[in-house]
Amino acid sequence: MKLKKLLATGLAAIMVMGLVGCSSSKGSSSSASSDASSSAAKTEKLQQIKDAGVLKVGTSAEYSPYEFHKVVDGEDKIVGFDDFVVQEIAKDMGVKVEYEDMDFDGLLGALQADKVDIVLAGMTPDEKRKKSVDFSDIYYTNSNVCIVTKGKEDTIKKSEDLKDLKVGVQKGTTQADYVTNTLGISDATQLKKIPDLMLELQNGKIDVIVTGKAVAEINVKKYDNIAIGNTTVGDEVAETAAAAIKKSGNGVDNTSFVKSVNDTIKRLQDSGDMDKYMQEALKLAE
Ligand code: ARG
Repeated sequence: MKLKKLLATGLAAIMVMGLVGCSSSKGSSSSASSDASSSAAKTEKLQQIKDAGVLKVGTSAEYSPYEFHKVVDGEDKIVGFDDFVVQEIAKDMGVKVEYEDMDFDGLLGALQADKVDIVLAGMTPDEKRKKSVDFSDIYYTNSNVCIVTKGKEDTIKKSEDLKDLKVGVQKGTTQADYVTNTLGISDATQLKKIPDLMLELQNGKIDVIVTGKAVAEINVKKYDNIAIGNTTVGDEVAETAAAAIKKSGNGVDNTSFVKSVNDTIKRLQDSGDMDKYMQEALKLAE
């Protein structure tokens, strides 16, 4: 009896070991192990998203007309230019969009941590970011401008003039990088959200905000007593927008995903829809 039990336990143990051995060897050959340097078979990110039926989109919805909150049919929604674009990206992949709304400076961290599949946030594909993530083709190009209080439109003539002013920028943006690193302004006010910057300008706590032109155009309509400056200062660095995608690695290959996004962007540009979407977003944001 005792022996029988022992034998049975042993047999069960061998069976379990066999199963584990079997499944682990299968696992390492099909999902290519977690070794990033391995060039073995890989999981396609695009297929993962299709299987999930959902494209998880990271954004920072305080950047109208790119993305902002709006109550539509009694429901709070994220709308705007990037929403038009990403709905088409998802449509072409046959999946639906799910948003993760967060601070702009947290977006690439969320992408790296796989909390989102893609970031659309009017994000400029600059060299620094390209070291850590991949970008789609650029889907929109805008200029950067200075926003000042009304009556001060002509005070900024050259970028050096900004050094004598209290400058405000959104934290973690290319505009923040421009004023701190290119112009060497170390005491710029850096806030997480564009609307907070507008209030600081209205209250006289800062003299000028450097931001994208489309964003400026909407905000000067929304907030009294502010205007776009008559200067090209800020525009040395154009505000381009591209979708950010996590680099391939750890057995996951993003190639077909990036291609699918680029195909959609090309379709929207060729048809003229891309420009229409910006016009529609500007209207929605008013
Ligand atoms: N284009 C700038 C950048 O990439 C600003 C983008 C800010 N976007 C936003 N959703 N707040 O840094």
